[in-house]
Amino acid sequence: MSAIFSKKFDTTLRLAAAGVVLVLATGGGIAAYLLHPNQVDTGYTPTQPVEYSHKLHAGNLGMDCYYCHTTVEKSSFAAVPTTETCMNCHHRVKEKSPKLQMVRESYSTGQPIPWVKVHRLPDYVYFNHQAHVTSGVSCVSCHGRVDQMVEVKQVEPLTMAWCLDCHRNPAPKVRPAEFVTKLDWSPEGDPVELGLKIVQAKGIQPPTHCSGCHR
Ligand code: HEC
Ligand code: HEC
Ligand code: HEC
Ligand code: HEC
Ligand code: HEC
Repeated sequence: MSAIFSKKFDTTLRLAAAGVVLVLATGGGIAAYLLHPNQVDTGYTPTQPVEYSHKLHAGNLGMDCYYCHTTVEKSSFAAVPTTETCMNCHHRVKEKSPKLQMVRESYSTGQPIPWVKVHRLPDYVYFNHQAHVTSGVSCVSCHGRVDQMVEVKQVEPLTMAWCLDCHRNPAPKVRPAEFVTKLDWSPEGDPVELGLKIVQAKGIQPPTHCSGCHR
């Protein structure tokens, strides 16, 4: 095992095995455990420190995702914007709003706003935004219609089976990369046919072997 997985993953496997034994020992519940791995947090909607709305900014105002999530195309991590990005507008838009009090405070003190992370994979899983976004997998495939959400909510299970479902047959979810942040985009013709063309042209082949995602 240790040849394939890092020590940390090895530990996690042992913990998972221990969990199964515990569930068995406490009588039944094994099926429930298998059906509900800890990543199935669909619906998770934490309360954020500032009432920031994607529906208003990305939906109504039509701001592009890349304006704020600047690293998503270039790195594994998508990152939330810094307070400076908000203040580009809010030093003159609604500059006295009580809803922006914490934003102004953060700007003057330099203390980042403590946003609560919504989507989280276990540490033993390798994930990379750039690889997906540059291949033409839209934010909408994994995060849903964020441009219609007042509060961001997890809509996909982010389980291993869910990742593999797409990795085994990515064509229906691949589009020209310039439309990745257009969440309501749909092609004129058959999306699968277009996806297949892009998959072939770019040689897209998502990993399905264990070490692709567990490095
Ligand atoms: C004006 C800046 C801004 C724009 C534009 C923007 N976002 Fe965000 N985004 C944020 C902030 C701030 C947060 C953290 C607070 C929250 O979760 O609401 C965030 C959080 C998120 C999260 C949750 C991250 C986590 O914690 O797991 C996702 C997913 C996301 N944005 C996707 C998008 C998508 C898709 C678009 C384009 C349709 C977009 N965002 C446009 C500022 C922005
Ligand atoms: C491109 C300009 C722009 C950027 C950048 C921007 N906003 Fe806004 N924001 C607006 C506009 C315009 C409104 C709506 C004002 C109105 O209702 O008339 C608004 C409204 C708001 C409101 C509601 C204020 C109220 O009193 O109703 C909050 C909260 C807010 N933004 C937070 C943020 C945060 C946090 C960021 C950074 C992650 C951000 N905004 C980035 C333009 C922007
Ligand atoms: C193939 C699925 C997938 C696509 C496509 C995708 N994301 Fe994510 N996103 C995830 C996962 C999974 C996480 C949690 C990552 C973690 O915990 O390591 C995440 C996390 C985030 C976060 C929180 C910061 C971070 O990197 O953990 C933001 C912000 C975000 N995504 C925005 C976006 C935006 C904007 C787009 C489109 C430009 C996008 N994502 C496309 C799956 C995806
Ligand atoms: C909607 C489709 C889709 C989903 C869902 C998806 N992927 Fe992918 N994944 C892709 C595509 C397309 C590629 C690009 C393959 C290529 O370019 O050859 C990719 C590539 C990757 C790579 C290779 C990146 C590199 O740098 O080598 C990893 C690792 C990966 N995905 C992990 C994940 C994980 C983990 C999840 C689930 C949390 C996930 N993916 C969910 C479509 C998807
Ligand atoms: C496309 C990405 C991907 C590939 C390929 C992949 N995994 Fe995973 N794996 C994940 C994700 C995401 C999780 C965490 C979510 C979950 O528990 O379903 C995970 C979790 C696990 C867990 C922990 C399960 C638990 O309940 O705690 C084990 C064990 C595991 N993987 C083994 C494997 C093995 C063995 C292979 C090769 C046959 C493999 N994985 C291939 C993405 C992947």
